[in-house]
Amino acid sequence: MSAAMRIGDAWRQAGRRIDRLDARLLLEHVCGCAYADLLARPEREMSGEQASRFDGLVKRREAGEPLAYLVGNAWFCDLEFAVSPAVLIPRPDTEVLVEVASEKARAVENPGVVDLGTGSGIVAILIARRCPQALVTAVDVSVAALDVARANAERHHAHIRFLEGDWYAPLGEERFDIIVSNPPYVAEGDPHLQLNGLPFEPQHALTDGVAGGNGLACIRRIVAGAADHLRAGGWLLMEHGYDQAVEVRRLLWNAGFVDVASWKDAAGIERVSGGRA
Ligand SMILES: C[S@@+](CC[C@H](N)C(=O)[O-])C[C@H]1O[C@@H](n2cnc3c(N)ncnc32)[C@H](O)[C@@H]1O
Repeated sequence: MSAAMRIGDAWRQAGRRIDRLDARLLLEHVCGCAYADLLARPEREMSGEQASRFDGLVKRREAGEPLAYLVGNAWFCDLEFAVSPAVLIPRPDTEVLVEVASEKARAVENPGVVDLGTGSGIVAILIARRCPQALVTAVDVSVAALDVARANAERHHAHIRFLEGDWYAPLGEERFDIIVSNPPYVAEGDPHLQLNGLPFEPQHALTDGVAGGNGLACIRRIVAGAADHLRAGGWLLMEHGYDQAVEVRRLLWNAGFVDVASWKDAAGIERVSGGRA
């Protein structure tokens, strides 16, 4: 157990080891205090137990573990979501997928929407909130991820049916107006998987499991199965890597989709591609 210490001293010392903002957020998490407390009452004491917990979290952050896992939540589209190491940490890149899918859903009366590979549930939950008349289903192969997604749906009052299984398998012969997915799209062994905290995230959420490939194995499967699960005129919309749009459009054309298009993220990168059945 560490000795009790002042929060201002703890912040200053941790700020030499990790990013100062991260140190502040970890301190707020452990002590349940607000930023204003840190500034206005730096002499406030944290207990020995809090000091030990804080030091443990600072060590984990020093080792590269993402802040979101340490505090157990992350922000996406102005909402706070619970996250655990069972789920991918929400990325701002995914906002464009939510926007395009919500717009397509709003154009249909009582649209049936399925989110394949829901993870923390962010995509399904945002669509359900933005398009309240939608009937939203969310699928994931990970039971642990579905537990996190269910808790997030409850927290944000989103009515979603959650199903466990491999892509379309739990859906039987059901058809939808919109299939949306942010699937794993990094090739196994890609050196990027060693950067920016990615080793701490679930590898089955990041990689398509094919070493040395182009990362498109999951997208290929989702495209191949879509015709059996889309209603006439329904949309398949998928997020993909920064350099995969051309290949994903080609897969969609070859599978007979029409109105094939890509949408850019805030950085101007083609991040979502889709087409109509
Ligand atoms: C890139 S993450 C996306 C998570 C979330 N939708 C998001 O945008 O943050 C991909 C998700 O696909 C799930 N997944 C991987 N393989 C799957 C499969 N064969 N069937 C269903 N889900 C799968 C993973 O468990 C993971 O939650």
